[in-house]
Amino acid sequence: MSRVTLRAATPGDLQLLRHWDKQPHVIAADPNDDWGWEVELARSPDWREQLIAELEGRPIGFMQIIDPAREESRYWGDVPDRLRAIDIWIGETDDLGRGYGTWMMQLALEKCFAPPEVTAVLIDPLASNVRAHRFYERLGFRFVGPRRFGDDDCFVFRLERPDWV
Ligand SMILES: CC(C)(COP(=O)(O)OP(=O)(O)OC[C@H]1O[C@@H](n2cnc3c(N)ncnc32)[C@H](O)[C@@H]1OP(=O)(O)O)[C@@H](O)C(=O)NCCC(=O)NCCS
Repeated sequence: MSRVTLRAATPGDLQLLRHWDKQPHVIAADPNDDWGWEVELARSPDWREQLIAELEGRPIGFMQIIDPAREESRYWGDVPDRLRAIDIWIGETDDLGRGYGTWMMQLALEKCFAPPEVTAVLIDPLASNVRAHRFYERLGFRFVGPRRFGDDDCFVFRLERPDWV
């Protein structure tokens, strides 16, 4: 059974998220984004969930789930309704590669697919993040194609509801 749980991120997580933002593996996976934590942790728009993953009560990572069609900045451009998109990272290097990310994704996918109308989940790792591509493919995601988001060359992957195991 998973020892990982997800809870809502709060303004009390500010220092933790800023600390994780400085870790080389977090920077490597997301070099160009400013998450504006001070502002964003203080608000809860209904198109987004910002989550802290905990391992038996110890915070180990961050996840965000959005409805890309309703997200304010229109990061995903013109996308249909009934989708979700996920961001994920583990904070400390010592916690990488221990199965925690798989548990985090399983919990997040349950949230994404809880509304019966949601058809698929999107994810956009950097094109260079080959280990993350393998990680998503193991979870059932399929490669859609390359796409440039701002300054980042990304690969889009998509998990269809029937492929969610
Ligand atoms: C991607 C990530 C969430 C996976 O979680 P995890 O707990 O490390 O993964 P698990 O232990 O469940 O599964 C192991 C797999 O994770 C991936 N992984 C492990 N370390 C990784 C790293 N530093 N960067 C990217 N992927 C990694 C690999 O696919 C690995 O399998 P492999 O050993 O066969 O290559 C986590 O590694 C991470 O936070 N990486 C850095 C940030 C990142 O790349 N986020 C994704 C951006 S889209």
